[in-house]
Amino acid sequence: MGKDVIIACDFPSRADVMNFLDKFGDEKPFLKIGMELYYAAGPEIVKEIKARGHKVFLDLKLHDIPNTVKSAMKVLSDLGADIVNLHASGTKAMMEAAVEGVTRPDGTRPLVIAVTQLTSTSEERMRDELLISETLPNTVLKYAENTKEAGLDGVVCSPLEAGIIHDRCGAEFLTITPGVRFADGDVGDQVRITTPAKAKEIGSDYIVVGRPITRAEDPVAAWRRCCDEFIG
Ligand code: C5P
Repeated sequence: MGKDVIIACDFPSRADVMNFLDKFGDEKPFLKIGMELYYAAGPEIVKEIKARGHKVFLDLKLHDIPNTVKSAMKVLSDLGADIVNLHASGTKAMMEAAVEGVTRPDGTRPLVIAVTQLTSTSEERMRDELLISETLPNTVLKYAENTKEAGLDGVVCSPLEAGIIHDRCGAEFLTITPGVRFADGDVGDQVRITTPAKAKEIGSDYIVVGRPITRAEDPVAAWRRCCDEFIG
């Protein structure tokens, strides 16, 4: 899989997401299904969207004991997800178990991506509540290294971190980056943002874009604009 724009389908129901996808006609953008849609519509929504011809990043951010994560990952792999994810803070043992769980009998598997530190976690909260005294960038880099050592494919990170993560973990190690906004668009609640063109320059492999597309007057045009700027 090469560089791509992944649309975050943060919708509350199956009806809402199908209504959105109908606008795309024969175009089949890469989609992200997160907790809201998955919990509302159930696992069948993954199969249904796959059957319509889309690739799916199933963003459920697993975090549990290794054996539980391994079993759950097998279920997500059987649904046909193309990318699944988990929290790197679950440790390397949990991440290794996840890779075992997603690997299908024929040897194929979805890409497995780790969340390092959520972008909503500040360095202050990390220090005062989680008792992690390292800086935020050092923590993100260490978690990215653990992710690579556990045999995973990459991390979710701020687009602004994609460059240093590639420097540390190699060009092949994938960076999936949310927090993308058009230069002339609404920022919303995102803080550390960048444009699709800048994300390309820094070296993101995939950008995850939600509201700038889902809430656009013309979502298909907004998606095409993202692809033009990011993929070129
Ligand atoms: O609407 P917006 O473009 O902000 O959506 C970004 C998507 O990426 C949302 O689904 C959000 O949950 C997700 N995300 C994020 N920041 C992270 C991890 C995931 O914005 N650090």
